[in-house]
Amino acid sequence: MDDFQGRPQTIQPNLRKVSDPADFIRANTLLHEPPLIPEVKLHLASEIVPIWQMTEEELEKTGLPPPFWAFAWAGGQALSRYILDHPDVVRGKRVLDFGSGSGLIAIAAMKAGAASVLAADIDTFAVASIRLNAEVNDVSVVVTADNLVGSANPGWDIILIGDMCYERPLAESIEIWVRGLVAGGATALIGDPGRTYLPKTGLEKLISYAVKTTRELEDTDVRNTSVWKIV
Ligand SMILES: C[S@@+](CC[C@H](N)C(=O)[O-])C[C@H]1O[C@@H](n2cnc3c(N)ncnc32)[C@H](O)[C@@H]1O
Repeated sequence: MDDFQGRPQTIQPNLRKVSDPADFIRANTLLHEPPLIPEVKLHLASEIVPIWQMTEEELEKTGLPPPFWAFAWAGGQALSRYILDHPDVVRGKRVLDFGSGSGLIAIAAMKAGAASVLAADIDTFAVASIRLNAEVNDVSVVVTADNLVGSANPGWDIILIGDMCYERPLAESIEIWVRGLVAGGATALIGDPGRTYLPKTGLEKLISYAVKTTRELEDTDVRNTSVWKIV
């Protein structure tokens, strides 16, 4: 990771025995409401279920990617709050939640009245997490582990991107791809707490929130986080 202050980390005495992502998620998380989105419950890491202590390097040795799915990132919380408070943005629309992680934004979009949501995340643990979290919140979300960057638009009206500007190559490839989709008529919104690789131009700020976070994850208790429209 280039840009997060802390690292999402996990520890589990029997990590090497992980075979079913859904079992792993159930065993290593608790159901929590993200601070800004009390209407959604997610399987999340917490200090009570200690998944902080292992380094990213140690995780790699176990074959597990960092559990981004186990946190409701500031950018995702801001974008979800915006959608829930402005449901017209997604009501009746076909939505892509790109880099879905826990599935928070996808769930918020369905709760706000989207016609359909595709939640995309290349991490198979995130895929399992999105499915579990959609079930807990009683919404229907289609999930894919395909890397959609560069793909043609099959009919998405709106693309939602929560906290994806933390690595330069990833952020740049997403920007090129999504600007192409916007040129083709789609809307694209980004939720971001000022990560290093958030585009510096071509964005219109819609709203900002003070998102409560943890010092372990972000090195601060609150992150000022904005929702941007790609223009
Ligand atoms: C920081 S998390 C954000 C998760 C969620 N959007 C939120 O705001 O809470 C970034 C997520 O992007 C996913 N990701 C990274 N590259 C991706 C790609 N090319 N396609 C889909 N997901 C990707 C990671 O697996 C991770 O779950």
